[in-house]
Amino acid sequence: MSFPKTDPTQTKAWKNLSDHFEVVKNVKMQELFAQDLERGKEMGLTWDDFYLDYSKNRISKETLPLLVDLANEVHLKKAIEAQFQGEIINETEGRAVGHTSLRNFDQLPSEVKATLEKMKSFSSDVIHGTWKGYTGKAITHVVNVGIGGSDLGPDMVCEALAYYRNHLEVRFVSNVDGDHVMESLKGLDRETTLFVIVSKTFTTQETLTNAQTIREWFLKNASEKDVAQHFVAVSTNLQAVTDFGMAPENIFPMWDWVGGRFSLWSAVGLSISLSVGYDHFEQLLEGAHAMDIHFRKSEFSQNIPVILALLSIWYNNFYGAESECIVPYSQYLNKLVAYLQQGIMESNGKSVDRNGHTVHYQTGTIVWGSTGTNAQHAFFQLIHQGTKLIPTDFIAFRESLYGNLDHQNKLLANCVAQTEALLQGTYSTSVDNNFKVFEGNKPTNTLLIKKLTPYSLGSLIAMYEHKLFVQGVIWNIYSYDQWGVELGKKLAKGTLSAIESNDISNVSNSSTQELIKKMN
Ligand code: F6P
Repeated sequence: MSFPKTDPTQTKAWKNLSDHFEVVKNVKMQELFAQDLERGKEMGLTWDDFYLDYSKNRISKETLPLLVDLANEVHLKKAIEAQFQGEIINETEGRAVGHTSLRNFDQLPSEVKATLEKMKSFSSDVIHGTWKGYTGKAITHVVNVGIGGSDLGPDMVCEALAYYRNHLEVRFVSNVDGDHVMESLKGLDRETTLFVIVSKTFTTQETLTNAQTIREWFLKNASEKDVAQHFVAVSTNLQAVTDFGMAPENIFPMWDWVGGRFSLWSAVGLSISLSVGYDHFEQLLEGAHAMDIHFRKSEFSQNIPVILALLSIWYNNFYGAESECIVPYSQYLNKLVAYLQQGIMESNGKSVDRNGHTVHYQTGTIVWGSTGTNAQHAFFQLIHQGTKLIPTDFIAFRESLYGNLDHQNKLLANCVAQTEALLQGTYSTSVDNNFKVFEGNKPTNTLLIKKLTPYSLGSLIAMYEHKLFVQGVIWNIYSYDQWGVELGKKLAKGTLSAIESNDISNVSNSSTQELIKKMN
């Protein structure tokens, strides 16, 4: 089975969608709701503890079937199977894409099973204090050292699952900014702190520099032989980790078929397992797997990630929307958007198609957002009355974790009030001046989830993973490489040597030369 490589704009469905767009582009959602009183019910989808309302979109009853035709014509089904069956779909790196197999407990690859077992027993030892620091004390603090996918996922999940946390305090150091490291080390006791160095490649400048600095800090009071009790690593590069001085038994392996931005399900999630316990980590994986099954087996018209992806393509490629906003109505999900930015923008920020040609249509969306209700008092003004079209995902949980009903009702009331205002605006109400006019007709999806649990969080993350995959398939781009970050890494070596030596003769342009001069 080969991975499909269809130019979406050359399909019949694209032509039909273009024609359809001309007919519906000026239709207002307010009218669609007025004409069809059942619209809200018809464009709602229940799956597990999720309810997706996609009725507040600029679509008529014909739009979704036409978008589904597009998915069929670019052979989305075949692409999904190719991914799940472990084909080398990341062709530019010659790799399979296997993050879904990390959470399929019925068919776990043996090396994954062994690693999960190792994570389980290690987490339990650290949490229960059987794992001792070099002076015999139990661990109280964990510091995850990594960047990108080796940081954002674990950090986001640890914060999202704060309610389920145990006594361990988990911190995250990512930036090569030395002040970040020093702030993160503040107040830490060497005798009771565990450092988890996470780097798929173990070549990343930021992580290696931070790990080195932390090691030196640790050795100010401890000795080399004590390192084994305080440093563990997660990596594919076992040799580099051993060279760094880490004990082989302290290495948690991962594999090149797990992409960095999809790696929280692997041993990269060790900090999660330490923070909330292995059982909760496993529930996170189970929830993701349930979404995998939904994605793989459901009809496209009943498939949450597929519907979200198709709607996004509708706005991106037909309405010309440049960005999408994501607003979770839960403070626990404060880091979700930053996490998704890497997943979505590192995956689909591409301009060469799978046939090697420069694309002549828009690809990756810009994703941004923040938590509600805070965002209402920050950037919502622009979504309501600005000139740009910004489709927005609202995510809310029906139940709060601490059960404070007064707060919860207000939180949910705000969430629906916003989608209502974005839809309806001041349409059909009289407004005494132009400045108060809200056009409405602003598209939103609302995802209502029963409760924030490790399981539902796993499903939510997997939902966005599959959404971005579908978009990449349709745009005919390779979502699983990230060549675009390599040039900057390479150039940073040259700029570092220019800064260190105060010699700009090898710097290619006068702007950078001046900047480097001013830095010294
Ligand atoms: O920024 C590029 C990138 O390769 C990401 O894809 C990755 O998550 C991050 O760097 C960190 O890489 P590593 O885990 O190898 O240190």
